[in-house]
Amino acid sequence: MNIVKDPQELRERCRDWQRRGVVTGLVPTMGYLHAGHASLLRIARERAARVVASVFVNPTQFGPGEDLDAYPRDLDHDAALAREAGVDVLFTPSAEAMYAPGAATWVEVPELSKMLCGATRPIHFRGVCTVVSKLFLLVQPRLAVFGEKDWQQLAILRRMTADLGFPVEIVGAPIVREADGLALSSRNVYLTPEERAAAPHIHRGLELAASRVAAGERDAGRILAATAAYFAEKMPSATPEYLACVHPERLFALDVIDGPALFATAVKFSRARLIDNRLAGVTATPS
Ligand code: PAF
Repeated sequence: MNIVKDPQELRERCRDWQRRGVVTGLVPTMGYLHAGHASLLRIARERAARVVASVFVNPTQFGPGEDLDAYPRDLDHDAALAREAGVDVLFTPSAEAMYAPGAATWVEVPELSKMLCGATRPIHFRGVCTVVSKLFLLVQPRLAVFGEKDWQQLAILRRMTADLGFPVEIVGAPIVREADGLALSSRNVYLTPEERAAAPHIHRGLELAASRVAAGERDAGRILAATAAYFAEKMPSATPEYLACVHPERLFALDVIDGPALFATAVKFSRARLIDNRLAGVTATPS
């Protein structure tokens, strides 16, 4: 595995693969890799002849007062995990290399970026779309793999890729969970032991919501109220930042569940803000 810091060097390597028709897979990450990232790398490894993973804590997707400086970093560990997962090139640029002084161009999908996480993180998805576009232009991958835990990010990146005509297949990877159901996240390290014990209730609450749909409940408001009550009882020290039932692709809020639906939440603990989601909903019965 090669570790490359220089965007130009990455571009040249990938251009060479491109010229020779080598299928390249990209896995963008912010590092502090865990088993969830390993599953993304595995998917890329299965689908592509060459795999590029990036480790870049992208400053433009953090708002003022968010955890940019505190975001956990461990490049030695990341390199070992990436090597083990069969990554060919680990791209670890500096912020200065990714954003020239005076850079003033953004890529943004406003229609899908205002709700859910976007309601409290107004510049977040603009930063994500911009950096992912830059990575697409450098690597020219045939496919790129993103985790379904960040469902809104995945929906936005699918839209962006289609709208801008990037010839990249966006592959969504299922959420990887601890044995007790907590979704893996680099931010789980921020949890206190008590919070860690309570946090699996995020997943359980969302499962309960999906089971209500499976049992025939169609009123999203009633399900959300019951889920909020479950969260309040089981995680009294945590605050749900949002708890919503939305259309899985277009992300607008659903009142009545008469098709596919996504339950999504962000829950704030003392330092950690954790997101999770559960696809549920009704499949049309053939007439
Ligand atoms: O999901 C992430 O880790 C980041 O948002 C991404 C896609 C690597 C862009 O910085």
